[in-house]
Amino acid sequence: MSRCSEIIIFSYFCDRLSYKDKIDIAKLPKHIAIIMDGNGRWARQRGEDRVMGHRNGVTSVRETVEAAAEIGVEYLTLYAFSTENWNRPQEEVMALMQLLVSTISLEVKTLNENDIRLLAIGDLSSLPADCLMELNEAIKATSNNKRMSLVLALSYSSRWEILRAIKSITADIELGKIQTSEITEQNFEKHLCTSGFPEPELMIRTSGEHRISNFLLWQLAYAELYFTEKLWPDFRKEDLYEAIVDYQGRERRFGKTSAQLKPHS
Ligand code: IPE
Ligand code: IPE
Ligand code: MG
Repeated sequence: MSRCSEIIIFSYFCDRLSYKDKIDIAKLPKHIAIIMDGNGRWARQRGEDRVMGHRNGVTSVRETVEAAAEIGVEYLTLYAFSTENWNRPQEEVMALMQLLVSTISLEVKTLNENDIRLLAIGDLSSLPADCLMELNEAIKATSNNKRMSLVLALSYSSRWEILRAIKSITADIELGKIQTSEITEQNFEKHLCTSGFPEPELMIRTSGEHRISNFLLWQLAYAELYFTEKLWPDFRKEDLYEAIVDYQGRERRFGKTSAQLKPHS
């Protein structure tokens, strides 16, 4: 067989591979963060109430969690409700909170079967009592699971988190536990909600919006950003895998030059 036909056959099979098959497991991001956006528009496009979009978004959450766990992602953080989202119409906020309660209580069994630990970041004290109770129970019930950590960002905003960290570190200074001159990136991070988590290497936002919306501003400093037009309720496993393949094709330079990253020849 000629070299040329080998190449044609090879590219034919590459085209037929699913995104999952194209992933290099050795270069998997340890932590993926997702801004799940577009539920409202998805519902409006169908002439339905925005809440219908949130309900359909639950299937996408399930698929994404399963997809990430299947390939060995260690941390998956999902932006589910921002501090600013409290300013939405009261009925939508209430419906979202109810959806959260029912989804969490339904999913605990599956999380345990799949060895997935649930965690939450954000101003959890601002959640309605039933929601907080359900959340805490689920966190406790899944706390020994090891395969993947699923982090829900709830009533979360990065500016809130950073201010909270500053207050906490200032309190430590006042108590004499640390000197101002000793503040480093490493010990500052210990005061963030994500203390102990690896930094997200990949951040995905659905719905075609190109912004961060107060999400993990500190932690995303060097994350690769991936934007897709898909609305969240349409997001499926292959969409996650497509984002990972795209991420794996990028060169992460961290301020260095491209030549510095190449192994010496
Ligand atoms: C994301 O979808 C879900 C939450 C913010 C809770 P949206 O509700 O923001 O949907 P769009 O962006 O209005 O379409
Ligand atoms: C960001 O989406 C918050 C979540 C996905 C939970 P929004 O829809 O609230 O963000 P903006 O208002 O378009 O920036
Ligand atoms: Mg939105």
